[in-house]
Amino acid sequence: MSETWYSALPRDVAVLLLAAGRGERAGAGEPKQFRPIAGVPMLLRALRPFASHPDVGYIIIALPEAIAAQPPDWLRAVRGERVQLVAGGPTRRGSVARCLKALPPAAAVVLVHDAARPFVSRETIDAVIEIARQGEGAVAAVPVSDTLKAADPQLVITATQPRAGLWRAQTPQGFPRAMLEDAHAGSSPDADATDDAMLAEQRGHRLRIVPDSTLNVKITSTQDFVLADAMASRLA
Ligand code: CTP
Ligand code: MG
Repeated sequence: MSETWYSALPRDVAVLLLAAGRGERAGAGEPKQFRPIAGVPMLLRALRPFASHPDVGYIIIALPEAIAAQPPDWLRAVRGERVQLVAGGPTRRGSVARCLKALPPAAAVVLVHDAARPFVSRETIDAVIEIARQGEGAVAAVPVSDTLKAADPQLVITATQPRAGLWRAQTPQGFPRAMLEDAHAGSSPDADATDDAMLAEQRGHRLRIVPDSTLNVKITSTQDFVLADAMASRLA
């Protein structure tokens, strides 16, 4: 054989892995993304499914400035040809903007993922990449399963909201590169946005839901670490 079989695989997907937050809702101590879940730092768990994906050619990790300047040994070890470490911004959105500046020209599809979601599956990543390759935005999401109540500041219930057709947006979210760049060009990087899809929607782009698993949970509070430790031991 004159050609190697793997030369045909496109490695044109870039992943922006967001780990520059302060983790305030997870209480005092080290920011949540560096804390261990069953012995492995949450950021490393979030990184692995992308690092091992055959289409992913570039991973840019946004970190708090001090950590980007002096990464711990385990982060130094992952840095390399495919993995870059950059300093994030003051908001999630600002961190995405910093990552976009570091994006290599060959990246055609861009996935954005929260380091606070350490249990993303290969199936979800594949489905998000597939839609973004076809030219649409893709948002991993789960249908709302609880009954939704509206309440006033005294916690008196004022209404029950219909939940049909409502989804909880998760990450990864995937975009053709030009769509994500346009979404971010639309307003100031200092204004916050809780996800990137919202910015793309506001610019009139077409986005689709990728039905995801509720196991792809975001670790937000200290209670969530109890759940994460239990999940990590069961899924191992
Ligand atoms: N994030 C980031 N840069 C910021 C703020 C958030 O890269 N300036 C990242 C977080 O590290 C996290 C993801 O965005 O992986 C989702 O944000 P969230 O869960 O809100 O994390 P934090 O902002 O760190 O937590 P908190 O809001 O409780 O302070
Ligand atoms: Mg936050």
